[in-house]
Amino acid sequence: VQTIGVLTSGGDAPGMNAAIRAVVRQAIARGKKVKGIKRGYAGLLQEEIIDMDAHSVSEIIQRGGTILQTARCLEFIEPEVQKKAADICKKHGIDGLVVIGGDGSFKGAQKLAALGINTIGLPGTIDLDIACTEYTIGFDTAVNTAMEAIDKVRDTSTSHERCSIIEVMGRGAGYIALWCGIANGAEDVLLPERYDYDEQALVNHIIEGKKKGKQHHIIINAEGIGHSASMAKRIEAATGIETRATILGHMQRGGSPTCKDRVYASTMGALAVDLLCKGASNRVVGYRHGEFVDFDIDEALAMTKGIDEYQFEICNTLCNS
Ligand code: F6P
Repeated sequence: VQTIGVLTSGGDAPGMNAAIRAVVRQAIARGKKVKGIKRGYAGLLQEEIIDMDAHSVSEIIQRGGTILQTARCLEFIEPEVQKKAADICKKHGIDGLVVIGGDGSFKGAQKLAALGINTIGLPGTIDLDIACTEYTIGFDTAVNTAMEAIDKVRDTSTSHERCSIIEVMGRGAGYIALWCGIANGAEDVLLPERYDYDEQALVNHIIEGKKKGKQHHIIINAEGIGHSASMAKRIEAATGIETRATILGHMQRGGSPTCKDRVYASTMGALAVDLLCKGASNRVVGYRHGEFVDFDIDEALAMTKGIDEYQFEICNTLCNS
């Protein structure tokens, strides 16, 4: 490859800027040109393409969000739209492309690879819901942000001897909820992967806790289950204990990335460039068993993963002793 394009797509995630910076600087170090594509695939279709040099990524490693902006581009599933995007890449001399995003963004990269643009995907999402990897850019920062917020809610919940339902992001996945469940010592964690929770059992658990002298009852509810406000009303009516719902929302997507997100995103960005320099295409970078690895995108998209059963079990044991 001679010219490497880079874009961010889907929901933003802290650490995306570190990945962009690594792509730009590693590419320049390898003697390649770099072009930044603004607003994901939508911006590519509008030819929002800028030249990037080492200086254009100064002062960004510590910033949340993505300097390239991001978008969800639903029309990219149309074959003629994909063809138009490949033609635009060719017109701008982009023969290698790094796509930072989730599974949906990788599908776009897969189509562009079939149309002659060498593509590499980097897992960028706070949700951790990409099957081929144990790490996604942004998860570490998001889960730390959520953990700190839940600690704060817990303080006021204890003072008022309330039950608090705290809803965390994750779309259909419960990783943020499960990690916070353990890290915050929540009394209950509701995960979409375990949508078999019994509200009467939850009510009994709250009442039992009160009898044992518990001063609060923290329920972490994953967004994939949702309905926290109505759940709070029902629980208050059934237990007689004041119950409040807090939806953490988009605060979980922002903020300065943690050290782990900066270092792993930088490594993945550099690796993407090295893969392109070796002639690789249609690959996605992941982190597994302590190593940075890459997979064929088709294989990566066919993989599945669920929550760690042992982690779920210890969450319940440790938080209810
Ligand atoms: O995928 C990241 C994520 O924050 C999910 O956790 C959440 O379901 C979704 O994006 C929210 O998307 P939007 O910012 O478009 O409302």
